[in-house]
Amino acid sequence: MLPSYSMANKFYEPGEHRAFRVQDLFATVAPRYDLVNDLQSFGLHRYWKKSLIRLAQVRPGERALDLCCGTGDVAFILAGRGARVVGLDFSAPMLAVARKRSRSRTTPLASSISPQFLCGDAMKIPFSDGSFDIVTIAYGLRNLASLEQGLREMWRVARPGGRLVVLDFGKPDNAFWRRLYFGYLRRLVPLLGWAFCGDSQTHAYILESLQNYPAQHG
Ligand SMILES: C[S@@+](CC[C@H](N)C(=O)[O-])C[C@H]1O[C@@H](n2cnc3c(N)ncnc32)[C@H](O)[C@@H]1O
Repeated sequence: MLPSYSMANKFYEPGEHRAFRVQDLFATVAPRYDLVNDLQSFGLHRYWKKSLIRLAQVRPGERALDLCCGTGDVAFILAGRGARVVGLDFSAPMLAVARKRSRSRTTPLASSISPQFLCGDAMKIPFSDGSFDIVTIAYGLRNLASLEQGLREMWRVARPGGRLVVLDFGKPDNAFWRRLYFGYLRRLVPLLGWAFCGDSQTHAYILESLQNYPAQHG
């Protein structure tokens, strides 16, 4: 489907059906997710993910949960720092890419520290209270039906004194930069969805979901 800038996005549906639409979205983009991520961010998402890991202050042997892990980028970096990592996501096609990447890594991690990829809901995390030293979520919180429930669950499964780290799109304070950035997300990024995933709405979704997500200052 070609870009349309006015119609409501079929992948964005607030309320109880949100998760189904989000699953449809990631089933559509999974095979090309990593490629489009590199193109739309000019590779910068790799740098931002490393910044997230720096903030997490990982120590070898710590237990880390990467929520909405997708194709596994953050889980692999955490594991590379020596953490014992679980990557959780509710999209089987995204997890299939993560597992394939795990099997085909050119510099395999020792099996004891390879991330374990599990299918599950970030709104109802299948672990008991205080199970993790670190809980991360990259570009995931914005996709949940309830931001508050997602944060509550992160808090619950982190041990007292553990670290919760969230990475997502921001909204520039400066009016000029905000206009430019939203213009880029509105006009150009959907073209990548159209060209690589066969549907511009897959990537028009980013702006739609961002407009309904708090900016970095609330
Ligand atoms: C934009 S991708 C981010 C993937 C990865 N964290 C990254 O930074 O590349 C968002 C991911 O969140 C997952 N997701 C969305 N809502 C979820 C939920 N309620 N529970 C588990 N995973 C969810 C999607 O399936 C998708 O893989």
